[in-house]
Amino acid sequence: MFTIDIDPSESLESSYLQLNAQLAALLSGERDLICNAAQLSAFVMQTLPDLNWSGFYFARGEELVLGPYVGHVACTRISFDRGVCGKAATSLQVQRVDDVHGFEGHIACDAASASELVIPVVVNSKLIGVFDIDSPIVTRFTDVDLAGLRSFVATFVAATDMTWSL
Ligand code: SME
Repeated sequence: MFTIDIDPSESLESSYLQLNAQLAALLSGERDLICNAAQLSAFVMQTLPDLNWSGFYFARGEELVLGPYVGHVACTRISFDRGVCGKAATSLQVQRVDDVHGFEGHIACDAASASELVIPVVVNSKLIGVFDIDSPIVTRFTDVDLAGLRSFVATFVAATDMTWSL
């Protein structure tokens, strides 16, 4: 069993540093894309409070296709011109939405979602997909969360071969 230790007396910045080291340990020795994407999704859901969805959409042609995730069942395909995920995919910029109800075109996969953070996954200038995190709390994601979750995605990218075969 892999145990994740968090010291509740630490600052959020320090907690993210500790968690990122534990994520690197969790992913070490395994480079499979689907496996590591599933592990990151679950790791985030298990370690961060007040989330209701954590997972991946992979770039396929002009669409994003649902990948490994934890949360309620979700939309399977998102066109690049739709939603917060599509905006992250086309702009290649992190999208932090404090209140999804104020984001025109937001796609509500889970009615409970109130805020959202979407981080593009780009390797060698190529869009692999996006890592999407939803919260039932408005303005859930601070600058510290943004930096910490970006560090998680960087750890995932470094630990993973971005291909797979059947
Ligand atoms: N809200 C996203 C869709 C994906 S779900 O949140 C899992 C969007 O607007 O792109």
